[in-house]
Amino acid sequence: MLGFNREILGLQPSRSMTFMAKAKQLRAQDPEVVDLSGGEPDFDTPQKIRDELYRQVAAGYTHYTVGAGLPELRERIVKKLKEENGCDYPAEGIVVTPGGKFAIYLAVRTFVDAGDEVMYLEPAWVSYPSIIEASGGRPVPVRLSHSDNYRITLEQLEQHVTDRTKMLIINYPNNPTGRALSRVEADALEQFLLRHPGLMLLSDEVYERILYTGNENISMGSYASVASRVITMNGFSKSVAMTGWRVGYLATTPEIGAVMYKLFQHTITCVSGFIQKAATVALDCTEEIEEMRRRYERRRDMFVEGLNAIDGVHCALPQGAFYAWVRFDIPGMGSEAVCDYILKEAKVVGVPGVAYGTDDSCVRFSFATAEEDLERALIQIRAAMERVKK
Ligand SMILES: Cc1ncc(COP(=O)(O)O)c(C=O)c1O
Repeated sequence: MLGFNREILGLQPSRSMTFMAKAKQLRAQDPEVVDLSGGEPDFDTPQKIRDELYRQVAAGYTHYTVGAGLPELRERIVKKLKEENGCDYPAEGIVVTPGGKFAIYLAVRTFVDAGDEVMYLEPAWVSYPSIIEASGGRPVPVRLSHSDNYRITLEQLEQHVTDRTKMLIINYPNNPTGRALSRVEADALEQFLLRHPGLMLLSDEVYERILYTGNENISMGSYASVASRVITMNGFSKSVAMTGWRVGYLATTPEIGAVMYKLFQHTITCVSGFIQKAATVALDCTEEIEEMRRRYERRRDMFVEGLNAIDGVHCALPQGAFYAWVRFDIPGMGSEAVCDYILKEAKVVGVPGVAYGTDDSCVRFSFATAEEDLERALIQIRAAMERVKK
């Protein structure tokens, strides 16, 4: 018997990655399959960013870099957070990581001792509980309710706090529900932090640049009263179509950044210099980002309207991110059974709500997909739902 680490051995495989792999396989076997399972923009990384990478590699900028990020990238992130998010983080508090996922791990690992509790809001991105477990912590889900439009209340948060609670993780715009954080909820979070001075808030804002008309982004790091305990995490994967580049960042105080850097130094050394140079350019790709956002918005409008026109299918209009969180009323079927039915009868691949910790019979479909695929998915789902009633 091999003596594996208990926490690592106990981890569940990432359900979203399992679904993506399954969907790719199904599509290779049957081209009629529409894959809406992925969490990945279908757009190319903007040309300017790719050009910068080629330029840097051609110039031989291929060695180790020193520190928690290149000075120009850290400075550019500070400027972005100040101008776009109203946050006041210093450059010494910026840690550039190989992807947002690792940033979350680094933040959780830096604070959690064995047995400490980390709260997170459900439905939740699939990796939070596993990252908490891999850090020796105990995941504490706070289940928000579908019928209440996944509203956060102070009372609910209070019900889950114990003297072992170290951190709360939030994610807005939300994967999978598409909800943006409201001002009332942000104020409740501020109150919650003020009541619990030992608690950290990790704010995952990877979809922050993908917000639809009429919605504003609220970064908890902009609340001066609690800013020193808000770690803001963001990345380039979603907003600039850079999933494969693996670059993200954390913004925090210099004191916390220095502790994170201890683990960083001994695990990843640095993020590739040429990638960091390209990421610096990415922060200036305002027009390209806006063009992608507009395209997502058109797809959202078309797809969600089409879904709601089908009997037994309900989807609230997402305020941000690129997911439709869709409830199917099929008697006797939970989200996994619904997903299997939609796959078999409509040849459309989604991710069952149960992967996000809920039992709401919801399925997540990504609309970061070509318009013609979304139109085909609607036709096929409609036909499958008509058959269900017979
Ligand atoms: C809510 C959320 N946070 C973090 C990530 C991680 O993104 P990345 O590691 O590609 O930066 C994802 C990716 O799916 C996500 O959906």
